[in-house]
Amino acid sequence: MNLRLQVNGKRLLKRLDDFAAIGATPAGGVDRQALSLEDRTARALLADLATQRGFSVFQDAMANLFIRRDGNAPDRPPFLIGSHLDSQPTGGRYDGALGTLAAFEVLETLEDAAIDTEAPIELVAWTNEEGSRFAPGTMGSMAFSVGHIPEDWQATRGTDGVPLRNALAATLEALPSAERKALGFPILGYLELHIEQGPSLEKENIPIGIVTGIQGTRWFEVTVTGQAAHAGTTQLGFRRDPMVAVTSALHALYNGIMPADEAARLTVGRIAAQPGSINAIPGSVTLTIDLRHPLLERLIAIEAQVLAAFQTACAAQGCSVDLRKTFDMSPALFSKTVVEGLEQAARHLGLPVKHMVSGAFHDAFYVAKVAPAAMIFVPCREGLSHNEAEYVEPEHSIAGAQMLLQSTLDVLAMVAIGK
Ligand code: GLV
Ligand code: MN
Ligand code: MN
Repeated sequence: MNLRLQVNGKRLLKRLDDFAAIGATPAGGVDRQALSLEDRTARALLADLATQRGFSVFQDAMANLFIRRDGNAPDRPPFLIGSHLDSQPTGGRYDGALGTLAAFEVLETLEDAAIDTEAPIELVAWTNEEGSRFAPGTMGSMAFSVGHIPEDWQATRGTDGVPLRNALAATLEALPSAERKALGFPILGYLELHIEQGPSLEKENIPIGIVTGIQGTRWFEVTVTGQAAHAGTTQLGFRRDPMVAVTSALHALYNGIMPADEAARLTVGRIAAQPGSINAIPGSVTLTIDLRHPLLERLIAIEAQVLAAFQTACAAQGCSVDLRKTFDMSPALFSKTVVEGLEQAARHLGLPVKHMVSGAFHDAFYVAKVAPAAMIFVPCREGLSHNEAEYVEPEHSIAGAQMLLQSTLDVLAMVAIGK
């Protein structure tokens, strides 16, 4: 379907500015962590804009936010488009916000032009994609895909100590006018626009990435326990220092994994010593590990390497290690039909594309478990993301939104005829 329908680029850019002001940091980024006051403020603004346009607003038990533009066949399951509104603690203005606001722009453009679709189209803003305050990431889409909130999240607390259930309740209560929807319901398909968060589109000067899959991610919380003791009086043979064990394990891992396997990614983003006193050997050291690889067998092998490195280092220092997996997203391929829809949309728009696998994880991974799904990427400057300096050229944001609009119509037509 080539309607020559144009998104309103000026309106989209203004919305990006308006939402970037919610949780704005002095360095030009955003701190709008999941289920925080800032996150609730952004949700309220989106819900308000939706109500002004006559769209309906819903949320489910996981506080996933849905904005619905009705179709002619109200009994048909909706086609979902969207992303997330939460950010990293020192995040950028576009990660998640672009996909969410471009989805709103799609709904508004269809409304402005009075274009009827048969199926309803629903924007979704998934809860806690980032996972930096509450682990794991992609909680909202994960719960949606299984139709319930996993039991073990009952005890989950944020990095600030706030229980997940309290933060969820406060977020749900902050939007009392939104109708409640059951968690998990049939959908026709899902499309998500996102910034690439890597350098290849910019380097190759290609405006659109068609994302055919996502590399695998595993998260671990590691606790290495030794014995707290006096920093000055404890002689070498008596020191059971977990910091020595951690640094030696990490040294072995950094040198052993990434240079040998260019596709592997190992990141320690958080580390703390307890009790955290300058003149006491720590009793324990806790750290997080984010491990990624496009191949499942390599992910499994590197996980074994991580465990072995900590065991060896701990044995040498008289320490013990506890490694808890908090997130496990296997590498995945998106729907061929939706990828074909994206290719067709790009042809309709005359936009050059590059097919790519996402290095970041996304909600589309979980949605793809219950419906045909895929993603669109646009370039970001120097591939920089999870950084306040994250930047997307205005024309790339607009082209992404245009691509989301066109592909929504093209994919909708394809799934409607059962292709
Ligand atoms: C998503 O935010 C990721 O860390 O890949
Ligand atoms: Mn994101
Ligand atoms: Mn992110």
